[in-house]
This record gives sequence, structure tokens and C-alpha cells, in this order.
Amino acid sequence: MKMIKNTLFSETPVKIGTESGSDNYIMAIESSCDETACSIVKNGREVIANVVASQIKTHAQFGGVIPEIAAREHMDSINIVIEEAFKQAKENAGIEPKDITAFAGTVGPGLVGCLLVGLNAAKTLALCYDKPFIGVNHLNAHLCANYLDTDLKPPFMALLVSGGHTQIIDVKSYSEQTIIGETIDDAVGEAYDKVARLIGLPYPGGPKLDKMAQEGNPKAFILPKAKVGEFDFSFSGLKTAVLRLVKSFDEQELPVKDICASFQECVSSTLVKKVKKALEMTGYKQVVIAGGVAANSEIRKKMFDLEKDGYKVFAPPMKYCTDNAAMVASCAYFNTNTFDDVNVEVFSRVK
Ligand code: KG4
Ligand code: ZN
Repeated sequence: MKMIKNTLFSETPVKIGTESGSDNYIMAIESSCDETACSIVKNGREVIANVVASQIKTHAQFGGVIPEIAAREHMDSINIVIEEAFKQAKENAGIEPKDITAFAGTVGPGLVGCLLVGLNAAKTLALCYDKPFIGVNHLNAHLCANYLDTDLKPPFMALLVSGGHTQIIDVKSYSEQTIIGETIDDAVGEAYDKVARLIGLPYPGGPKLDKMAQEGNPKAFILPKAKVGEFDFSFSGLKTAVLRLVKSFDEQELPVKDICASFQECVSSTLVKKVKKALEMTGYKQVVIAGGVAANSEIRKKMFDLEKDGYKVFAPPMKYCTDNAAMVASCAYFNTNTFDDVNVEVFSRVK
């Protein structure tokens, strides 16, 4: 549990977290990349407002996220998503702005210009309503998406797969986590996006590649699995192998679906094999998947297959896999490794 000072007038600390003794309503804002999102979550698990403004259409014109354009879109959307979240909270739970226990915002990692928009909005709300401010790490927030609408409690093993990160994390308690393995080069989401571009799929590549893969033959091509540390990953060699494969075909005859399926098979089997090893090492019986790539159909399927071996598997619903603010609110509530100071600055990379 955290004891956090109000920001302006009151010296009385506010209790936030699992043992606070009263209901906590945390409003959170997420703007680290290309989604402007605002949510209100009760006691870290119950989502009473959830609004996401996606910038996919804008960035599709450029084939990727342009930071300056993304930051400007956040500026256009931020007030709208906040107003809509307050409206939903009033309609769904009779909660007014004055009832909010604390305001939270993503501090990093992410695009600095984008982070600043959401973070400054969350700090301003905290100052206006004289409530505490909590800064949240985006990666921890992705893990906490698994607490939403569930009764999940640590300890558990986590597979965090996003556009920027690929990690196996030993979650010992709500605030104590150890990274036991990670990628030494590309993140899974990055590999998906790069391979999608290689075979001519439009942005956003990951979900499109996933869709194509479902119609292809996963055994059509045997692609290489990198030999790295027991729990580490490497996807750059795989990316090069796909490039070579693509070049071996005439453009008109490229077996896109089979290449997608074979790539997806290689990635998903590598990820889940190492997660299983980590489970066996720790003896944990619970495992979660988190991050944007947790939306991937084959990775989800293989993770849920672990249930046949007696493990309890958690995966957030799709809307909480990709960037959203409900996970940020949950993290502000559960994870005590947050930045409880209105002066906290944004950061672009993991420190
Ligand atoms: O977590 P996220 O929304 O943003 C980061 O924090 O990075 O993850 C975005 C990544 C992108 O690389 C996107 O292509 C990938 O998640 N992604 C997928 C799928 N849905 C999103 N990759 C594979 N299959 C999907 N269904
Ligand atoms: Zn993310």
C-alpha cells in the first residue's frame, strides 16, 4: 500500500492500494505512442470508464508512427478522452471528478513528445482536484492488464511481448519483479512489423501478418531458431531468413500466407517453449501474457495450451492487450514501484 501526499493544499496522505481500507478510484492517462487513452478503475480491477482514441488511420498514410504527428494528435484528443471517461464513470458508477482518489499517467518508456501530453494532463488534473499524482511505467502497466476483471494474484510467470520489448518476468509480488530473460535484438512486435513490411503488408503489420498466417501452412518453410541464453530471445536472424526466402520468389508468386504462417509458428513456439521452461524452473502454476503482441492468435493459443499441463493461464481481452489506460490505473493501484511525485519527468527508454 502507498501513502501519497495530496498535491497542493492538504498535508494528509492518501492511502492507495490493496490494504487502503476504502474504495480507490484511479483515473489514468496513457499517451506513450499512438493511442490517447483515459480510464477510471475501481480498486485496480473494476473498469468503470475506458476510452481509447487510436491514431492508426493517420499513421497508416506514412507506414509507421511519426513522433511529431503522433504528439499533435494526442493534443487534439486528450481533452475529449478525459471528458468522455468522466461521462462514462458518472453513467456507469455515479462517480464524479471529486470522487477520484488519485490521478495517474504513463511516464515512460515511449515517445517523449507523446508522453508529455498525457503526463501533463494527468498532473494538471491532480493539481486542480488536489489529489495525489502517480507516474507509471508503461511495461509494468502492460503486466497489470491481467488484474483487470480477474482475481489474479502473484506469484506468476509473465511473458511480456510488445512493439519494443520481449521479456520473461518472474512476478514475485505486486511490486517485486525479476526479468529472467529478454530479447538481445528485435522485440517480437518489431519483428512482426518488419517482416510484414518485407512481404508488402500495410501498417499496422503485426495484426495483418497474424490474419494472413491463420490461412497459411505453418509447416511450409522451416525457419531458423536462434541459439541464445536459456530464457533469452533473438529475432534478427529470423528476419534475415524471411528476407532471403522472399527474395527467392518472383514477386507475383510470393506465398505470402505460408510465409506468415511459418514465421508465426517459429516465433510462437520459441516464446512458449521458454515460458514453459521458466515455469518448470520456478514451480509456479500461474502464467500470464501481456503487451500488444498478446493479441496474437497463435501465441495466445499456444499459451492456453499450457492449461493441458495443469497451469492457470491469463491473457487480457484484446482491448487491454494493446495500449490503454485501464492497465495504467491498475498499475498505479497495485504496483508500489511507481513515481509518486508531481515533479516526475518523462523518459523514453527503460532505465
Ligand atoms: O504494446 P503495444 O500496443 O505498444 C508497445 O508498447 O510497443 O504493442 C504494439 C505491437 C506492434 O508491434 C504490433 O504490430 C503488435 O504489437 N501487434 C501484434 C498483433 N497485434 C498487435 N503482433 C502480432 N499479432 C497481433 N495480432
Ligand atoms: Zn504498449
